[in-house]
Amino acid sequence: SIGAAMVTAVAQRLASQRRKVDERLLAFKLSIEQLRLVKATMRAGLEAGLKMKGSSAVKMLPSYVCRTPDGKECGKYLALDLGGTNFRVLLVKFRKGLQPRSRLYHKIYTIPQEIMQGTGEDLFDHIVDCISDFLEYMGIKNVRLPAGFTFSFPCEQTALDTGMLVSWTKGYKATDCEGHNVVSMLREAIKRRNEFDLDIAALINDTVGTMMSCAYEDPQCEIGLIAGTGTNLCYMEEVKNIEKLEQKKKMEREKMCINTEWGGLGDDGSLDHIITSYDVEVDQNSINSGKQRFEKLTSGMYLGEVVRQVLLDLTRGGLLFKGNVTEPLKKPGIFETKFLSQIESDHLALLQVRSILQGLGLDSTSDDSIIVKEVCEVVSRRAAQLCGAGMAAVVDKIRENRGLDHLNITVGVDGALYKLHPHFSGVLRETAKVLAPQCVVTFLPSEEGSGKGAALITAVSCRQHLNHEV
Ligand code: GLC
Repeated sequence: SIGAAMVTAVAQRLASQRRKVDERLLAFKLSIEQLRLVKATMRAGLEAGLKMKGSSAVKMLPSYVCRTPDGKECGKYLALDLGGTNFRVLLVKFRKGLQPRSRLYHKIYTIPQEIMQGTGEDLFDHIVDCISDFLEYMGIKNVRLPAGFTFSFPCEQTALDTGMLVSWTKGYKATDCEGHNVVSMLREAIKRRNEFDLDIAALINDTVGTMMSCAYEDPQCEIGLIAGTGTNLCYMEEVKNIEKLEQKKKMEREKMCINTEWGGLGDDGSLDHIITSYDVEVDQNSINSGKQRFEKLTSGMYLGEVVRQVLLDLTRGGLLFKGNVTEPLKKPGIFETKFLSQIESDHLALLQVRSILQGLGLDSTSDDSIIVKEVCEVVSRRAAQLCGAGMAAVVDKIRENRGLDHLNITVGVDGALYKLHPHFSGVLRETAKVLAPQCVVTFLPSEEGSGKGAALITAVSCRQHLNHEV
C-alpha cells in the first residue's frame, strides 16, 4: 500500500541520515593503535623538550622546585593566583606537628576581558588593586608577607623567583608581557602603587602548586595535572636527565619538577593524524592559532567550540535542527564546559537536554537532542583518552627513570573538566591504565591546589634561605 511505502521511505531516510551522522562522528573515535601513537608522540615530545633550549613543541620548563613538602612548613604566606577568568588572593597559615595543618582565607576577583587583552601594565595594576583590597580586608597591609605567585602560563625560569613569559595561552593576550620577567612586572606594579610591600619568593605554575598541595597529604604524589580551562602536567624529573639545565644549576640537586606545558604537543604537526576538520576550524578561530594544539583537543576552553563546529556542519548538511543554522549556533563560546557536563549527565532525560538547548536559544526535536548528546560524548571522550595517553607516557617515563618493572604513583589533579564532568575522569583513568599497564596511578583531587601549593613552595623556599641551603 501507499501508506506502507511511505513508512518505508521515511525509515530509509532516517537510516541514511543516521549513517551520515555516524560517518562524521567517526573521526573522533580513536582506536587503541592511535592512542598508542599519541602516547609515543608525547614521550618523544618530553624527551626532545628536556634536550632543547628554545622552541620544542613540549616546552619542558624547569620549575626550580626540587622537593615536595615534608609537613614541617609553618608560618603565614600570601598566595596570588592568576590563570583563568579569575584572580585569587589567599592567606595561608601552616602549623607543623604530628598532624600538619593549614588554614586558608581567600577572595576572588574577576579579570574583565578588556584587561586580559589590554596592556601588560594595566593587567598588573589591576592585580595589585585586588591585592590591596584583600590586604585591607584582612587588616594586614603593614605586614610584609612572603608571597608565592601562581601564574598559569608557560614561563622560562632561571630561578625560583624569576621567569619570563614565553607566550600567553588560554584567553590572555595583554601586550608587553611576552619575553618579560613577570615577577619584575608584579614588583614594579606594587612599587607604582606605593602602598604596601611583599616579598615575592616564588613563581609557580598551577600544575606545580597542585602537585605540591597533594604531596602535603600523600608523599607518593610526584605529578600534578590540570584538566580545566587549559590542560597541563608537571612531574618530578631526575636532574641528570634535564640536559638543557646549566651544569652549575644542577649542583647537589637530585630531582626537579618540570612543567611540561604538554598543551603544546602537536604544534609541530605531530598530531595531524588525529586532527579533524572541526579542530582546524576551532584552531583558526582562536587568538593563538597554530599554538596549543593538544590543549585545543582536550581542555574546557575549546571542547564546547569543537562541539559547536560539529553541530554547525551537521545542520548545514540538513542532519540536525531541520537544517536551520540559527544565530545562537553561530555564536562562539555558547557551549561552555558546564553545559557539556550537564548534557552528558547520566541522570538527565532527553527532555532536559532539550530544555538546556532551549536555554541556549536552540529549538530541538528529541532526535536532535539525541544527536547533540552524542556529539558532546565523542568530543569529551576523545579529550579524556588523549589526556590518558599523555599520562601513560609520563608514568612510564618515570618508571623507566627508576629502572622499575612496576610503579605506584599519585597524581594531584585540579580543574573543572576533571572535577565536574560526569565521565572525563573515569575515561582518563581507564585509558592510562590500559596504556601503562605496569603502573598503578592514583588520582588525588586537590583542594585549593594552586593557592595552597604556592604557599607551601614559598614556605619551603623561605626555610631554605634561613638554613642557607640554597
Ligand atoms: C595552559 C597554560 C599552562 C597551565 C594550563 C592549565 O596550558 O599554558 O601553563 O598550566 O593552561 O591552567
